[in-house]
Amino acid sequence: CGICGATGLRHATPIVFEGLRRLEYRGYDSAGIATLADGKIERRRAAGKLDNLAALLEREPLSGTTGIGHTRWATHGAPTTGNAHPHGTARVAIVHNGIIENFETLRRELETAGQVFETETDSETIALLVDYHLQRGLSPKEAALATLQRLEGAYAVAMVFAGHEGLIIGACHNAPLAVGYGEHEMFLGSDSLALAPLTRRITYMENGDCAILTPMGAEFIRFDGTPVQRAQQVTTLTAGAIGKDGYRHYMEKELHEHPLVIGQTLQRMVDPATRKVVLPELPFNLADAPRAVMTACGSAFYAGMVGRYWLEEIARLPVDIDVASELRYRNPPLDRHSLGLLISQSGETADTLAALRALRQSDVHILSVLNVEHSSMARESDAVLGTVAGPEISVASTKAFTAQLTVLACLSIAIARARGHLDPLREEELVSALLDMPTRAADALAQNEAVRAMARVVAEARDVLYLGRGSLFPVAMEGALKLKEISYIHAEAYAAGEMKHGPISLIDSSVPIVASAPYTPLFDKTLSNLQEAKARGGRLLVFTDTKGAERVSAIAEQVVVLPHVHDFVTPILQVIPVQMLAYEVAVLKGTDVDQPRNLAKSVTVE
Ligand code: G6P
Repeated sequence: CGICGATGLRHATPIVFEGLRRLEYRGYDSAGIATLADGKIERRRAAGKLDNLAALLEREPLSGTTGIGHTRWATHGAPTTGNAHPHGTARVAIVHNGIIENFETLRRELETAGQVFETETDSETIALLVDYHLQRGLSPKEAALATLQRLEGAYAVAMVFAGHEGLIIGACHNAPLAVGYGEHEMFLGSDSLALAPLTRRITYMENGDCAILTPMGAEFIRFDGTPVQRAQQVTTLTAGAIGKDGYRHYMEKELHEHPLVIGQTLQRMVDPATRKVVLPELPFNLADAPRAVMTACGSAFYAGMVGRYWLEEIARLPVDIDVASELRYRNPPLDRHSLGLLISQSGETADTLAALRALRQSDVHILSVLNVEHSSMARESDAVLGTVAGPEISVASTKAFTAQLTVLACLSIAIARARGHLDPLREEELVSALLDMPTRAADALAQNEAVRAMARVVAEARDVLYLGRGSLFPVAMEGALKLKEISYIHAEAYAAGEMKHGPISLIDSSVPIVASAPYTPLFDKTLSNLQEAKARGGRLLVFTDTKGAERVSAIAEQVVVLPHVHDFVTPILQVIPVQMLAYEVAVLKGTDVDQPRNLAKSVTVE
């Protein structure tokens, strides 16, 4: 979910609404805004996407210079107007992101005390608890603190109070919230993206911070009332970085940024003159790690799986990898000084953050690969390797994925060198292959016509099977995930060699088989697997390269031919048309490409 707030001299509603637009990637089940108009709380809420709220505001405008807003990804309670935020009473309105774990206990207490609930949400408990304290004569600040002291779970909240023009109280615990500074106006937002066009002066609140905002500034206190000082930072994010640039969708724009972000990320990690990887200074020695434990969610997890192939093969480092929601409960035995490797675009995914904290319990060095610089994971890691992908708005990840691969490739080289498994010549060879990637990525994008032809076949299917071997197996998984996410077609990914042990029974002419089969040492084996599928009537749609094209074309119905590159970098190149395919299928099916149903870009609940 996303939170935005503004207080100053201007009308708050348009400012808050535009903030919500930029936060819509965090959830778009419903949205709402509350303002103070002549000292009274007024709110407008609508189920569905922000356009519905816009239409409502058109019919029933909302005046006032102090306001808070919310865009929701439903956890407790269906995505209805009634469950939409802000929640509240005549005395207080709140917006909330996260989960209140003890809400049932609090709800019972409040009901016993005579408070009447209108919704099934955990968030309403916050509002009614604040309201309860206000009724007993506490000031807004006292009522907020008394409430915050009782809440368990991970949350960010913003509150406004009837009769207190100009006042917004924000608070967070294990969920991000940022304060923005304007000229005689102040803002609150879930992240710097929400605040980008409003101000570049920002304070990222810390866990257990409460911020008292008025148009004149912000006061920070801890939940027990102790005052604290929090520094302002200047963000580099500009409003220009978050437009669509004439593309139909953010996803299309972001796909076209693959060459750029791979190049930018390499610039940070490679010295082009010496052809060596140069990592930023780390507070631990990479050579000391006896093994790595990797974790992430969604696409970032598949990037990690590609990274595992590299770390094991090139750096000879044993790697354990699991999705974050599993790793955190597995409690695996970890050797001292193991490398905890986390991968996340947003740096906010609750499961990954929880896994980070679980890893903290062991003597592990935590190195995170993150795209958002000032994120919760960045703050809690021992070191961060940044992907330089810029803001990624489309829910389905594209450019952040190739940037993650680029970082993991460089990291594998650095660890290989540190462990004595890489001579300078081989390093030069691998780095040269990486430096070639921005150009090759542009070549891959130029194959869009061939990809579109494939998309026409896939768009007709009910089920699709994705195949790949070695480091292209995670690419197949990424492809299947992307197709499911945005086109709602069921897809499954299998290691090509494993297909004959089960899924081959599904194959007939109605199940297209999408495979990555460039000319690598595994080419012949993959081709045999494709033959097995074809022999059972399977329709083959294959991504290959110039060296494999002839033999693939002999058996496949559709072929996309990419440049032939070093084996090491094939997953970086192959994933580009695989993501494009999902995009083109979604466009053909007319789905909501950038904001597919039920999903959110950054899932901040476990
Ligand atoms: C959500 C998104 C996925 C994304 C995953 C991890 O589930 O829908 O597209 O890959 O979160 O996000 P992160 O920000 O941690 O990379």
